[in-house]
Amino acid sequence: MPCLDTRARQILRQNDRGGYTVPSDRLYPYQWNWDSAFAAIGFAEFDLDRAWTEIKTLLSGQWDNGMVPHILFHQQDDGYFPGPDIWGCNARIPSSGISQPPVLTTVVRKIWEQDPERGAPTLERIYPQLVNWHRWFISWRLDDAGAVCITHPWEAGRDNAPDWDDALGEISTDSVNGYERRDTNVVDAGMRPTKFDYDRYIWLVELGRRHGWDQTALIDASPFRMADPTMTFILLRANCDLVAIGRALGHDIAEIEEWASCLEAGANSLWNPDLEAFDSRNVHSGAWSGCLSNASFLCWYGGIDRPRMHEHFDRLTKRVAYIIPSHDPDSSRFDRQRYWRGPVWPMMNTLIAIGLEESGYTASAEILRRSTARLIERSGFSEYYDPEDGTPAGGVNFTWTAAIWLSWASSRTGREQWARLN
Ligand code: SER
Repeated sequence: MPCLDTRARQILRQNDRGGYTVPSDRLYPYQWNWDSAFAAIGFAEFDLDRAWTEIKTLLSGQWDNGMVPHILFHQQDDGYFPGPDIWGCNARIPSSGISQPPVLTTVVRKIWEQDPERGAPTLERIYPQLVNWHRWFISWRLDDAGAVCITHPWEAGRDNAPDWDDALGEISTDSVNGYERRDTNVVDAGMRPTKFDYDRYIWLVELGRRHGWDQTALIDASPFRMADPTMTFILLRANCDLVAIGRALGHDIAEIEEWASCLEAGANSLWNPDLEAFDSRNVHSGAWSGCLSNASFLCWYGGIDRPRMHEHFDRLTKRVAYIIPSHDPDSSRFDRQRYWRGPVWPMMNTLIAIGLEESGYTASAEILRRSTARLIERSGFSEYYDPEDGTPAGGVNFTWTAAIWLSWASSRTGREQWARLN
């Protein structure tokens, strides 16, 4: 599809703000963490140096404690709320106070393997930064079972997933002053989180700011701590890639290998026997969310296989026109256009398909790739899509959708490149 290829490259160039890429022009006018990882994958298809620049810019915002923030506010933009003043972080580059799933480590490995000689100097330089970031997750985000927790729905990237409903419902937001959302100036409110959700997002940001983003204090103070399959499977996978990078560079990787066994136990602990699927769990109460989400299907990406997950995959394939919906369409909480409560997210599909492919489930990986390609061909480079009829939803001219088109959805070749990782 040469036309779509051209358009995808154009989107990446248009969203380039000089060293970093915004996810979507007006809706998200800053640098987002995992969005940038996908942007790098897209750039790597036609401009490898630009791909490395994206990665270096993201890592330039790393905190001294190792965290790589979920947003870097490189330059003020009043079109987005909450901005750096609300987060109140004391960082080298103004940023948010939470992180995001570390897709970046896997992307670094992929891009380096594309041209090892060219990437070697950067890889050597950023490797300690990646190790420090992973160490931060291990130090501050594990529950007792070894699953990776989130401290804010934005940390998983799955903002309004039903997974968090019960935990958020326990927060009283009386202390939150009036604020003005900007997202609904750009996107139909029916495709975005509700006011109920937003009040709680802001309440959690204010809690973090009040505690100076001190992790020890926040572990005690925050009512919101959820063990999350997105974070757990993605970090587990990233950790394997970090081991591979460290070994290739000749570093001692014993510490990283220890993390891997802990994370693997954590990932297995997310199996909810009643739901018969990977699920989220409230760390404070121990309660399951009871949610089959697209994050549940990241198990293969994390290297974990369960026969029952294939049955869910087959059921969803028959149930909706486009897979994989972000929440089970057979659940009463499914909402086909509301962000993470039903819509299909192409970059999640990419990760899921890579996992399927690498685990030997080539046919399922190909079904998923085709479904994603059909969505993009039908509805353009949207942020997410209605799984029932493919209606484009959310932000337009979206960076990661363009990037995954170029690197994976448009061709078998792309998929095979990703699969070369193992
Ligand atoms: N996705 C969030 C937003 O919509 C932030 O990460 O603003």
